[in-house]
Amino acid sequence: MRLPLKLDAAVPVEIVGTGYYLPDRVLTNADLEKMVDTNNDWIVERTGIYERRIADPDMATSDMAINAAKIALEKAGLSGDEVDIVICATITPDMQLPSTACLIQKAIDARNAFAFDVNAACTGFIYAMATAYSYLASGCARNALVVGAEKLSSITDYKDRNTCVLFGDGAGAAVIKRTDNPGHGIIDFILESDGRNSHWLQVPGGGSRKPLTAENLGERSQYINMAGREVFKFAVTAMKRTTVRIAERNGLEAEDITWLIPHQANKRIIDAASGALGLDQSRIHYNIHKYGNMSAASTAVGFAEVVENNNLQPGDYLLLVAFGAGMTWGSLLIKW
Ligand code: ACO
Repeated sequence: MRLPLKLDAAVPVEIVGTGYYLPDRVLTNADLEKMVDTNNDWIVERTGIYERRIADPDMATSDMAINAAKIALEKAGLSGDEVDIVICATITPDMQLPSTACLIQKAIDARNAFAFDVNAACTGFIYAMATAYSYLASGCARNALVVGAEKLSSITDYKDRNTCVLFGDGAGAAVIKRTDNPGHGIIDFILESDGRNSHWLQVPGGGSRKPLTAENLGERSQYINMAGREVFKFAVTAMKRTTVRIAERNGLEAEDITWLIPHQANKRIIDAASGALGLDQSRIHYNIHKYGNMSAASTAVGFAEVVENNNLQPGDYLLLVAFGAGMTWGSLLIKW
């Protein structure tokens, strides 16, 4: 497959604020043992997950997104009416329409912005950041609020042990802005997709192909359906490929990457991908043990956690990598 061209980051775009939100309710492996035929040892050994956060029934994706967005805006020192673009990456929108981004726009009073959602599943936050960058670089906007938010518990089948142990809920946000500081901020990204294996990861029901009816509700097609082993093999290859290529084409060795912020689908996938670059474990950000896989929110929350918990220095390199349904995969390189 042809590799997307290297970004010519002639217009510097920096990260000026980040935030994240996680629901309080914790679903542990012990809780899941009471729901399906599984056990803590299997889940920990095969995935690295110990617990995940689950939103209350009356909390929707936009509620978590808004909480994360408000923190990011405060850190950026921006009021809602100063925001030019709102992009929300999600596969669990509050409803089919309007977009979740428009609901965020309303809540933060971003009356001067345009807003839309991006669906690239677990790669969504990277796709959304790259999309926002492109708008800013083209000169049609000065700043953007980018959110990755998911209520995966709303599309998880808690009768299916193959999938229900994996997923959790949460939201992360970043505010990015055009600046006059060349060589910093978003340096490069690689976005790739391959629809040939789109059947590996689907929510088959509830769309125009198979609208939900009283008759077909019992088929449980409104939930995530996954070919786990195929996705696993694909994920290891895709994550390795995008990690190595973005590092190589920017002349970076493993020791130059300050933080690798990978999508958190399975600890074994992260270890295989980071191993390809020879990266030291201490520079890989993990939150899978406490949050599970939050799809587009995983890299968004991971990014915000890295910014919050580490005293990042100018020149530090942060590398976000992800894969997801579609199949989609990609990477985003940031120089602090
Ligand atoms: N508890 C106990 N046993 C289980 C469980 C469970 N929760 N789930 C599956 N098993 C069993 C299987 O039935 C199977 O039994 P069998 O051999 O008798 O048939 C056995 O464990 C092994 O199953 P595998 O599927 O081979 O297990 P594997 O080591 O591949 O791990 C997993 C499964 C964790 C799902 C792994 O394949 C994986 O992580 N795949 C990628 C998932 C992923 O990244 N998805 C992205 C979705 S994100 C999005 O876009 C929403």
